[in-house]
Amino acid sequence: MEKLGPIGVFDSGYGGLTVLAELRKKLPNHDFIYFGDNARAPYGNRSFDVVYEFTLEAVKFLFNQGCPLIILACNTASAKALRTIQQKDLPQLSHHNRVLGVIRPSTEVLGELTTSGHVGVLGTVGTIQSESYPIELSKFAPAVRVYQHACPMWVPLIENQKYEHPAGRLFIAEDVQTVMSQHDEIDTLLLACTHYPVLKTQIEGIVGPNVQVISQGSIVADKLQSYLAAHPEMEKRLLRNGTVHYYTSETPQVFNEKASYFLQEEVAARHHSF
Ligand code: DGL
Repeated sequence: MEKLGPIGVFDSGYGGLTVLAELRKKLPNHDFIYFGDNARAPYGNRSFDVVYEFTLEAVKFLFNQGCPLIILACNTASAKALRTIQQKDLPQLSHHNRVLGVIRPSTEVLGELTTSGHVGVLGTVGTIQSESYPIELSKFAPAVRVYQHACPMWVPLIENQKYEHPAGRLFIAEDVQTVMSQHDEIDTLLLACTHYPVLKTQIEGIVGPNVQVISQGSIVADKLQSYLAAHPEMEKRLLRNGTVHYYTSETPQVFNEKASYFLQEEVAARHHSF
C-alpha cells in the first residue's frame, strides 16, 4: 500500500505561515510540513530563473519528506515557477504528486468580490511584473479592471518587524495611496503577497470603510478543501493526525522566534539547507 504523507506548504520566508494558519483552521486533522527558505528570502526582487531554481529545490525537498501535495504559499514562486514545475518537472519527478499555487484560487473569486469592477493588487516586484494577476483574472472575470503596484519595501519591513515604526508606516501609506490613486472606483484591494496579511488592519485604516482589503489565506484554504473533495485519490494519500512540522534554511532559533510571532504559538523548526 502507498505511504501516506503530509501536505507541504512552501514560502520564501514567513509569509506562507499566514496561509498555513488558515489551512490548519479548515483542515485541522491533516498533517502539514512547512518549509521556509528564509536564508535566501526575499525572493521578490530575484530573477525568474533564480526563483524557479529555488522553488524547484524546495518542491523536491518536500516530495522527499513524503508530501504528495504541495501548496506554494508564495505569490512570487507561484508567478515565476509554478507553471514550469507543473508542466516540465512534475511529469519527471512524480506523475501523481501535485503542486498548487495561490494566484489561481485568488483570481477565481476576485471577480465576485468587487462591485465596481475595479480591483487593486499589491505584491512583490516579481509578482507584479509577471502580470500573472491581470492574465489569470481575465480568464475568470474579463470585465474586471486590475490596477497593480509593487511594494519592494514591505517584505523586509515585515520580516524585521518594522511595519509599525513611523518610517515603516510612511512607506506603507505611500504604496497604498499609489495603487488607490490609479482609479477612484477601486473597491477591493488584494494583498497578493502572503506576508501582507499582517498589515491588513493598517491598510484598512488607510483606505477607509468603502474598500475591502482581501487576504488570500482563507481563499486558498477554501479552494484546497474543494480540490480535495473533487480529488478523493489525493485526499486518501494524505496523513490525518493533525501534526505540523517546520523546516527552515535559516538557523532554527531565528526562525522559531519570528515564526512564533507570526503564528502566536511556539514553533520548533528543523534546519534544511541546499
Ligand atoms: N511571501 C511571498 C509572496 O507571497 C514573497 C516574499 C518574498 O520573498 O519577496 O510573494
